[in-house]
Amino acid sequence: MFGTRERAHVLIDTYGRVATDLRVSLTDRCNLRCTYCMPEEGLQWLAKPDLLTDDEIVRLIDVAVTSLGIKEVRFTGGEPLLRPGLVGIVERAAALQPRPRLSLTTNGIGLKRTAAALKAAGLDRVNVSLDTLRPDVFKALTRRDRHQDVLDGLDAARAADLTPVKVNTVLMPGLNEDEAPDLLAWALEHGYELRFIEQMPLDAQHGWKREGMVTAGDILAALNTRFELTPEGAGERGSAPAERWLVNGGPQRVGVIASVTRPFCAACDRTRLTADGQIRTCLFAREETDLRGALRSGAPDEEIARIWRLAMWGKKAGSGLDDPSFLQPERPMSAIGG
Ligand code: 5AD
Ligand code: SF4
Repeated sequence: MFGTRERAHVLIDTYGRVATDLRVSLTDRCNLRCTYCMPEEGLQWLAKPDLLTDDEIVRLIDVAVTSLGIKEVRFTGGEPLLRPGLVGIVERAAALQPRPRLSLTTNGIGLKRTAAALKAAGLDRVNVSLDTLRPDVFKALTRRDRHQDVLDGLDAARAADLTPVKVNTVLMPGLNEDEAPDLLAWALEHGYELRFIEQMPLDAQHGWKREGMVTAGDILAALNTRFELTPEGAGERGSAPAERWLVNGGPQRVGVIASVTRPFCAACDRTRLTADGQIRTCLFAREETDLRGALRSGAPDEEIARIWRLAMWGKKAGSGLDDPSFLQPERPMSAIGG
């Protein structure tokens, strides 16, 4: 039976989940220092020779698309716009057959400059991270004074038709936790689809505490004070991590990704590739599988696909967040890819 599974041209695990969505981290570096992600001084960045080259990344995406059933590729970081070869990588990924859907998760800085070129290269849409409407709070949260750059980047993404433009927001106690309704009003006005993400234990400083976090329940309670929310497609959450609500009858929506309080592991369809060529089956996995070594020792596509399938076959049932023995992964989110 195992042999049969292994030969099937999909990334299936022992729980029957099939991964069709590939997250590719293009760099572990970032030009912000969000407190829930990185320390002020930054991190020990990956060394250049350890990073996959543009050619290696495209080759792995090609294997994923042609031999492993990947239908969607999301570029992440760190901050993917810091990768010099990004536009070329997107262009080459868009030329693959069958063509995957292509999206990008970015902090928005630099998007003003690159949105049109990314669209022309074949990028379909973007997710931009923005946690606050207040420049001073932005500075406290990200330790950089770049609020306006993000707003400009968002404008540019919409103008370039990288739509739907989704905005990811993490609420932090004592900083921006009171902003949920204001952020939603702003997103509706600008035509962005807002999604709140519960803060996860993925910060490099290991400072996450469940007690302090703003939960999906808190967020919905705050939104309900100003908007009428009706669940969209009740019972049809599928593999989308966001639970979505129609706002004031729709058509606009708001999403909440309750990774901590309402995990969606049973429907997970993700596989992840780090900037240094390691497969991760989950954000919270403590093990990785090396693809770079195989790639650089000249392994053919079938061998790469075999290693990838085997890694995913071993994917754990859940994140383990609720287990008293939960241990945070060694790598922070910026090095794994969001
Ligand atoms: N918990 C939740 N979301 C996080 N992000 C980064 N670190 C965390 C964390 N610890 C978010 C970013 C971005 C997305 C990729 O993940 O804000 O929107
Ligand atoms: Fe950069 Fe994203 Fe981490 Fe903020 S959360 S420091 S934008 S990688």
